[in-house]
Amino acid sequence: MPIGSTPLPRPPAAPPARTPAAPSSRTTAPAAPPSRPGKSVRPAARPEWLALKTHAVKVGPMHLRDMFKADDRRGSKMCAEAMGTGIYLDYSKNRVTDETLQLLFKLAAASEVTQKRDAMFAGHKINTTENRAVLHVALRAPKTATINVDGRNVVPDVHAVLDQMMAFAGKIRSGEWRGNSGRRIRNVINIGIGGSDLGPVMACEALKAYSQRELTFRFISNVDGADFHEATRDLDPGETVFIICSKTFTTLETLTNANAAKQWVVTTMRDPKAVAKHFVAVSTNEEEVKKFGIDPANMFRFWDWVGGRYSMDSAIGLSTMIAIGPENFRAMLAGFHAMDNHFRTAPAERNLPMLMGMLAIWNNNFLFGAETVAVLPYSNYLKRFPAYLQQLTMESNGKHIDLEGMPVAFETGPIYWGEPGTNGQHSFYQLIHQGTRLIPCDLIGFCQPVDGSSAEQHDLLMANLFAQGEALAFGRTPEQAIADGVPAALAPFHVCQGNRPSNTLLAEKLTPQTLGALVALYEHMVFVQGVVWNIDSFDQFGVELGKHLAKGTAAEIAAPRAAKTTRDSSTSALIKRYQRFRKAT
Ligand code: F6P
Repeated sequence: MPIGSTPLPRPPAAPPARTPAAPSSRTTAPAAPPSRPGKSVRPAARPEWLALKTHAVKVGPMHLRDMFKADDRRGSKMCAEAMGTGIYLDYSKNRVTDETLQLLFKLAAASEVTQKRDAMFAGHKINTTENRAVLHVALRAPKTATINVDGRNVVPDVHAVLDQMMAFAGKIRSGEWRGNSGRRIRNVINIGIGGSDLGPVMACEALKAYSQRELTFRFISNVDGADFHEATRDLDPGETVFIICSKTFTTLETLTNANAAKQWVVTTMRDPKAVAKHFVAVSTNEEEVKKFGIDPANMFRFWDWVGGRYSMDSAIGLSTMIAIGPENFRAMLAGFHAMDNHFRTAPAERNLPMLMGMLAIWNNNFLFGAETVAVLPYSNYLKRFPAYLQQLTMESNGKHIDLEGMPVAFETGPIYWGEPGTNGQHSFYQLIHQGTRLIPCDLIGFCQPVDGSSAEQHDLLMANLFAQGEALAFGRTPEQAIADGVPAALAPFHVCQGNRPSNTLLAEKLTPQTLGALVALYEHMVFVQGVVWNIDSFDQFGVELGKHLAKGTAAEIAAPRAAKTTRDSSTSALIKRYQRFRKAT
């Protein structure tokens, strides 16, 4: 589809036959999806949705060049700041008009985004497939707040765990906490996967400049033993503490790595009692933690109303707190909370999560059918941010069944990916600028560097960010290429069509507070999208199938080669071949 010219809006998807999707026997989802009598919500059948479809036909042919020419205040009009967070969003380089925004807000209103947002903040069980409240916002609520779940105010529980974390973090940072042989702890290793890994990894990297540099932080997630080996090979177990992070404490990867760690510590130190000084747990499952051999006094709790991918500000953030210190951790929570307040109170047209959520819906469902979003942080410290966002966005909104158990009639969660600028510029940006696909971009930058990097170098970094947004939007015409000295015959190759949409997020400095606000912005953006698509953004039954199959496959691999298999011919031939060569080596 030619991007710079007139992308025809996709033909309206024929609403699928409204037959309920067959419930999977492998998941723990309730057999009958929660029904909401009298509330048959079909987003694609809403008049507001259809109005956007019609409107997209009008906007499709427009070019950002002309939109900017027609209104020289566009750049200062189509922007908003989330007060109290320091985060500024320029969305003027999206292919939208004022009318588009009004229509998007009407769709949000018809979808009851604000009512559902309020229900989430009030602790209602909006994760209907799992019958759970969704209360990551309680993790950063001030001590004085009241948020009830099943009649119990959960805020004091949150603060009690924060106090426990602060005490432990303080002891590791000061050297008061000693290993089994009396030595000071110098290495902190987080063992967890998914939400029990990606948030801490990202935050520790993002806030490295604020961290206690004498301590080494490592993260083990993969069941591939290489991950464990590389993380521990040069460390002394006597100076190492493991934080075993698992909401369920049953996850195969985490338990396998935790057992490997226990064996490493106990055999190297020749003392089974060493576990007490070298292992702590973060979990909701006290029984399994005890079974593993960790004293519940060294367990940091969280609750079923915290989703794994929404947990980096819970006790799952213990490694982050040890790295940056309790005060900085509190500042990060304050940043989260400031964005929560902004999301709760700002009107739609100045509400960053609402704007970003609805603009992404516009790109995904109406104008372009954009299948992906590139997240391009112009900060090397944010190099793990795209990976973090992948779980947040794709595990949340990668759903094809709506809240009533029916297949959706439109695309849901786009694919999020990215790399920090400027590295990506010398790699995949070519495709974004001149390829045939439309890839909306989120450019993220900061006005001040956090480290010792010079002002000149930071100016260069930011010059690249601004230049990329400009190039994406306005491109380069054949006339401009020729005026720049390109021979006429080569001009077509130098043309960049432009009209590629982007958001620019700008903050003063990458501080703990800013990071909290930035993550909360994306959390709430995901929420807005999920509400409009009428899906459950808080379950993840899709990941269960692979887990379930892997257990059976592992048993089959361990069985003799001649053993009977019930698998398909491809998988069973692969297993047999693996068994043959595994034996040979
Ligand atoms: O990968 C699926 C998942 O269920 C994620 O949602 C979760 O963050 C991760 O596994 C880890 O789960 P746990 O914290 O229970 O070990």
